[in-house]
Amino acid sequence: MKIAFVGKGGSGKTTLSSLFVRHLAAARVPVMAVDADINQHLGPALGMDEQEAAALPPLGGRLAEVKEYLRGDNPRIASAEAMIKTTPPGSGSRLLRLDRPNPVFDACARTVTLDGGAGGRVRLMATGQFTEEDLGVSCYHSKTGALELCLNHLVDGRGAYLVADMTAGSDSFGSGLFTRFDLTFLVAEPTRKGVSVYRQYRDYARDFGVRLRVVGNKVQGPEDEEFLREEVGEDLLLTFGHSAWVRALERGRPRPFAELEESGRAALRVLHETADAAYPRRDWERYTRQMHHFHLRNAESWGNARTGADLAAQIDPGFVLGEDAAEPAEPERRSAVPQPA
Ligand SMILES: Nc1ncnc2c1ncn2[C@@H]1O[C@H](COP(=O)(O)OP(=O)(O)OP(=O)(O)O)[C@@H](O)[C@H]1O
Ligand SMILES: [Mg+2]
Repeated sequence: MKIAFVGKGGSGKTTLSSLFVRHLAAARVPVMAVDADINQHLGPALGMDEQEAAALPPLGGRLAEVKEYLRGDNPRIASAEAMIKTTPPGSGSRLLRLDRPNPVFDACARTVTLDGGAGGRVRLMATGQFTEEDLGVSCYHSKTGALELCLNHLVDGRGAYLVADMTAGSDSFGSGLFTRFDLTFLVAEPTRKGVSVYRQYRDYARDFGVRLRVVGNKVQGPEDEEFLREEVGEDLLLTFGHSAWVRALERGRPRPFAELEESGRAALRVLHETADAAYPRRDWERYTRQMHHFHLRNAESWGNARTGADLAAQIDPGFVLGEDAAEPAEPERRSAVPQPA
């Protein structure tokens, strides 16, 4: 299952996604956290020190290797260079699974042990810090391109979660990344700006059937609550108040997750139940059709010109991603491991 946390800068995306990840890990649900936000802060929010977080290998920096692996022996993709971030899987492509090792996760994901093990464990990947070039453009610069490729090749199911901390900027609509999640939690403060980001996201997402729920954050009282309910209506799932636990973490004096306020823990349970309930409605055919849609759009707007090929031909019309999608046998990896003499 794939869940995204989006919202305006500073709204609390990193805070709430890290709490949700901690909640899942504490419940011993397998979880992969992905930091895909402009400011990469998910590592520290999960208790990593700055050095460890800085040492995370950026997924965005491994784009060429990711492409090389994923294209497998798909005859429609001549080379990794001919692959763009929206190139969809087809017959012969390699697929990723959260519960099986693969070179992409092996290279980029790091295990974070929470509260000395009492809080469970989580794997963390990071797209890498965004640069000026990544913002406001939908083309090949984007750091989230490698993530989009991974999600388009990921066969996931109920048993494990991928949780992404993401920007809600308009750059996220150029690609299909915002359509890749079973559920998107939009974090909104009870302010006009917070609500306007919600409206923009909702209007864009509606055409693609993106399931969106609003999580109010930094809600201080009934007036805040009422404001959100009036402005957001039924999309408002719950509100989150000021948390002394979060503030202590910010002060560099983290407390064990088990000591999070009961109101926060109750809110996380609701997020978990809501996310679980979203999954049975996964429609793999639509999921695949949408990647084709965004691939054609990107091919026309810049991909064909950049690669000098007609990238529409990369679409395999007979291929639907899902549990039953065929994939090539794993290559012999033994040769890479030094053998004893
Ligand atoms: N419920 C809360 N209680 C107390 N502090 C909070 C809460 N939510 C967020 N904060 C604080 O607000 C600040 C912004 O939160 P956070 O970093 O999670 O937002 P963000 O949306 O990820 O921001 P950015 O756009 O910079 O990535 C942080 O200092 C965080 O500790
Ligand atoms: Mg953040």
